[in-house]
Formats: sequence, structure tokens, C-alpha cells
Amino acid sequence: MSKLIWKPGTMIYPLPAVMVSCGASEEEFNIITVSWTGTICTNPPMCYISLRPERHSYGIIKRNGEYVINLTTRDLAYAADWSGVKSGRDYNKFAEMGLTPVMASLVRAPLINESPVNIECRVTDIKELGSHHMFISEVITINAEKSLFDEKSGIFRLNEANPLCYSHGKYFETGKFIGKFGFSVEKKKTKGRKK
Ligand SMILES: Cc1cc2nc3c(=O)[nH]c(=O)nc-3n(C[C@H](O)[C@H](O)[C@H](O)COP(=O)(O)O)c2cc1C
Repeated sequence: MSKLIWKPGTMIYPLPAVMVSCGASEEEFNIITVSWTGTICTNPPMCYISLRPERHSYGIIKRNGEYVINLTTRDLAYAADWSGVKSGRDYNKFAEMGLTPVMASLVRAPLINESPVNIECRVTDIKELGSHHMFISEVITINAEKSLFDEKSGIFRLNEANPLCYSHGKYFETGKFIGKFGFSVEKKKTKGRKK
């Protein structure tokens, strides 16, 4: 490979494009699409979202200290994009996108019923980094779509929901299966070997 040296910028892709829902009451309910998000600790389970202070959702989440990360799928791509270009100052995004707000079980925020995984979060710290402020958060509980659990094994088949990802300005659904975690060190099975 032969490289061009570029100015520093945001170049870690692909990323999820999650829909973050917030608001303690119906009048306050809102959705913001976020790609600056991720897991930052396994135990205790912690994650972050980074928001520009000028977002309508910023004030709501700062005030309430709680929100829900809703994972997106191919079916939610249109609503995710729309919620990422329109503001809750001007629109009721749940109504406009035909999405159903359901009050979360442990935090004061609605979850998006059409999303297969809703992660209820509580803010523990806000880092004012620059253009974006990072909301470091504790994962309080997870709501996972029943139909995605394999009946026999109980394994959660998230990839069957066609998770959406965002890469350098474009959306993609999750692609071809390449291997499972640890496949690079797995011993190869010899065909026809007697036990
Ligand atoms: C794919 C995508 C990812 C985005 N990621 C972020 C993000 O990480 N942080 C942020 O502040 N805004 C992000 N935005 C922009 C907001 O979603 C957008 O400004 C939205 O209209 C804000 O809504 P609100 O004013 O109702 O809060 C993203 C938009 C899109 C389409």
C-alpha cells in the first residue's frame, strides 16, 4: 500500500448509527441519531454518546441524566437518517416516523419499540471535549426482541435483524459472514477423521 498523509480528522469507520431516545414526559420525547457512540467498559457495562451542545437532545439528556440507545436495522435506516437531519425543536420525530415510544423500564426516557435492542443508560460524567461533549454512561438494563432468540439454544441472533452501520457518509446493512470470534486460532477439523 502507498499512503497519502492527511490532516487529522474522524476516520474510524464503520460505526453504528444508533437512535438515541430521550425525554421524561411525552412533550419532551425526542430522537437523535448518533454515530459517535460505543462501549467503553465491560464490567460495569458502560458506554458513551458524544453530542454537540446545540442539539435539541443535548439539553434534554443533560437535564434528565438518562436516555436509551436503540440499535438500528435496515428497516429503520430511513427513520435513522431523518432523525439525524431534522430537529426535535421543529418536529415530533416519533409521530413523523411512525415509531412507537414505550416508557423504558428503569430510566426516564422512552424506548423505540421498533428497534430490536434498547439499551437504557444513565449518565455518570460529561466530558466537554470540544465540538462534542461526551456523555459517559452506565448501562442500566437491556431490552431485547424476543423473536430474535433461538428457540432451542436461547442464543440471541442479533445479526438476523440486519444491523445498520455508517461508514464515511454512507449507510450499509451488515455484510457477509466471515468468521466467528477466535476463528483465526481455531483448530481446523480434519474431514473424515475417525473418532
Ligand atoms: C448518521 C448520523 C450520525 C450522527 N451522529 C451524531 C453524533 O454522534 N453526535 C451529534 O451530536 N450529532 C450527530 N448527528 C446529527 C444529529 O443527529 C442531528 O443534528 C439531529 O438533527 C439532532 O436532532 P435534535 O436537534 O432533535 O437533537 C448524526 C446524524 C446522522 C445522520
